[in-house]
Amino acid sequence: MSSHVYLNGEFIPETEAKISVFDRGFLFADSLYELIPFYDGVGFRLEEHLQRLHQGLKAARIQCDEDIAALCQQLLEINGGGHQAVYIQITRGVDERRRHRINPGLKPTVFLLSYPIKPALIGDLSHYEGISAITCEDIRWRRCDIKSNALLANILAVQEALDQGAQEALFVRDGHLLEGASSNLFMVRNGKLYTSPSDEQILGGTTRSVILELARLLGLALTIQELPEHWLSEADELWITGSTRGVVPVVKVNDQTIGDGHPGPIWLRMATAFRQFQQQLLQK
Ligand code: PDD
Repeated sequence: MSSHVYLNGEFIPETEAKISVFDRGFLFADSLYELIPFYDGVGFRLEEHLQRLHQGLKAARIQCDEDIAALCQQLLEINGGGHQAVYIQITRGVDERRRHRINPGLKPTVFLLSYPIKPALIGDLSHYEGISAITCEDIRWRRCDIKSNALLANILAVQEALDQGAQEALFVRDGHLLEGASSNLFMVRNGKLYTSPSDEQILGGTTRSVILELARLLGLALTIQELPEHWLSEADELWITGSTRGVVPVVKVNDQTIGDGHPGPIWLRMATAFRQFQQQLLQK
């Protein structure tokens, strides 16, 4: 059975969903998105995801009155429940012709799809090997806090990483490590945990905020500040975070081994705490 999607008021098989070539999401990437993991119907940081979406819509001047949380629940049910990620995309809508200026009369296109996922960080954490990453110049626009569909810079960065045998690209701007192409970044250095401030230079990740809460619960020394790129050579541990991935250790960046080249002890504590946090969601 093919999955169903939601498109502009209807739940339909994915093969039947059609969008106009005059949709501004298609023509201009004039659209925003979210990706929310649901575990047996319970959304991971649901409110925070929705708030980020609505803040982005406001900044983009797109007015959408749909009840996104209710649509997620209906779609999850139609697609069989269990653990699924819901992808939501809202575009400014379909115009009569291609023109840059905003036509205030447009009705946004609202699209949702869902697909099965596994909870992050399953299995024996002591067997995790970690991933490698590359650094690359951040050529994105300057409102990275808005989850825009204009992801060409992210796509090229992650493909460059894959071409070099790595799994993630870390963006560097003005000598500072900011975040990954689809993840936030944490560094352990001299026993302290660091991450970049949640400003317009990064996407304020929902997993990032869980990690910050868990760091406080675990009593870790935490500093939110920009991360100089040259700290990579002094880092004991490096992690990336994202809602379907959880917290993932990075053990190599370019040719630089991070720490001893294995996931570190603070990551293990954090990953264990993150798994407990996720387990509590599953019991709700
Ligand atoms: N991306 N930073 C960037 C640039 C991202 O694209 C993402 C997530 C994150 C982490 O956000 P969160 O913890 O809320 O998932 C940070 C999603 C998964 C994507 O693009 O598909």
